[in-house]
Amino acid sequence: MRTQVGIIGAGPAGLLLSHLLHLRGISSVVLEKRSRDYVERRVRAGVLEQGTVDTLVEAGVGERMLREGLPHHGIELRYGGAGHRIPFEKLVPGRAITVYGQQEVVKDLIAARLAAGADIRFEVEDVELHDLESQPYVTFGGERLDCDVIAGCDGFHGVSRPAIPEGVLSVFERDYPFAWLGILARVAPSSEELIYARTERGFALHSMRSPTVSRFYLQVPADARLEDWPDERIWAELRTRLETVPGFTLSTGEITERGITPMRGFVAEPMQYGRLYLAGDAAHIVPPTGAKGLNLAVADVRVLTEALAAYFENGSTELLDGYSDACLKRVWRAQHFSWWMTTLLHTFEEDDPYARRLQLSYLDYVTSSEAAATTLAENYVGLPFDVGR
Ligand code: FAD
Ligand code: DHB
Repeated sequence: MRTQVGIIGAGPAGLLLSHLLHLRGISSVVLEKRSRDYVERRVRAGVLEQGTVDTLVEAGVGERMLREGLPHHGIELRYGGAGHRIPFEKLVPGRAITVYGQQEVVKDLIAARLAAGADIRFEVEDVELHDLESQPYVTFGGERLDCDVIAGCDGFHGVSRPAIPEGVLSVFERDYPFAWLGILARVAPSSEELIYARTERGFALHSMRSPTVSRFYLQVPADARLEDWPDERIWAELRTRLETVPGFTLSTGEITERGITPMRGFVAEPMQYGRLYLAGDAAHIVPPTGAKGLNLAVADVRVLTEALAAYFENGSTELLDGYSDACLKRVWRAQHFSWWMTTLLHTFEEDDPYARRLQLSYLDYVTSSEAAATTLAENYVGLPFDVGR
């Protein structure tokens, strides 16, 4: 079997890349380890930057997102007994975020790809990458896929990054001493906008998916186990951390999904080797506080699409050669923003009272200075896609 681009992984990065390449007349085959049902149900991120929304709409896969997604023009930072709104409409006019579940984006992309006759193989086993320097090919489940290039879109735990010979990549990492416990609940959101809450007991986030489904996250110890968090404990902790301003009551409901995500920043440089190009979580992950992971995957794929289009249309390798450099400026901006939001809002056990005062002082600055609030707002809604290119 032969294709122009062999894509490993049917997450947002792999599926969007396959779709954007198709629009440019470039063929691809997507190889995914999990079942279609599994990838369509996997609950993860929910905040889409303006640039991500624009990308999906321009690519013709934004119709349901525009109908069912929830545009948001601000978020609340809650701490010290008060809520402080960061008003996007004032600070970054014309730019906003849309709350729309990652698995809905994945469903829309799979539907569009299959409608266009795409070759997506689910539940493939033993994917291995070969001959990355010259004539790359992928083997899986006894089959062989020859390609001009391979796109490694198989997430943080995939096989693409480890296929790069030792010594080629520089790895930059930061582990945080806590994790996020995330739930989905069948209950109307208790707030119209997202609430990022900093308390002495730790961070909490109130998000949502629809008028009848809410999403919450709690900072928990890095070694927390789901079995130690029965429903009542989760709701009690969410109440304690969110019901900190007068008149706010948290509505509760049936918990339909739960999971614990470790918090880590990670970048592998360069994001390419020979004819292998890494995109999304395969190359970098961020702690979720800045809501950047999915958006970075989309930004990488946009850059890679342009580079591959130039290569297949006129044989030019200039953009492909510069792929990693073009992506990494944005990747590092997002790393910094995610680290900044994480340190601003979480409780660190090693923090002494002095450090806690500094954190509160910084929060006061961010919520009272227009310049500081604009920094938060412009990073949160996402810097334009052409930055650093
Ligand atoms: P992925 O979505 O990970 O897709 C990679 C795909 O490759 C998967 O379908 C996987 O099954 C497949 N794959 C893996 N190995 C192989 C293999 N060997 N062969 C074939 N296929 C393979 N971001 C936020 O902004 N907010 C959040 O709340 C948030 N929560 C998260 C929770 C979890 C548990 C995780 C892991 C991530 C979370 N993220 C969050 C980050 C965000 O979801 C990711 O940045 C985003 O999914 C990146 O997309 P991707 O396509 O690069 O990778
Ligand atoms: C959601 C996830 C995030 O990481 C975040 O910062 C905000 C919202 C969400 O899943 O809704």
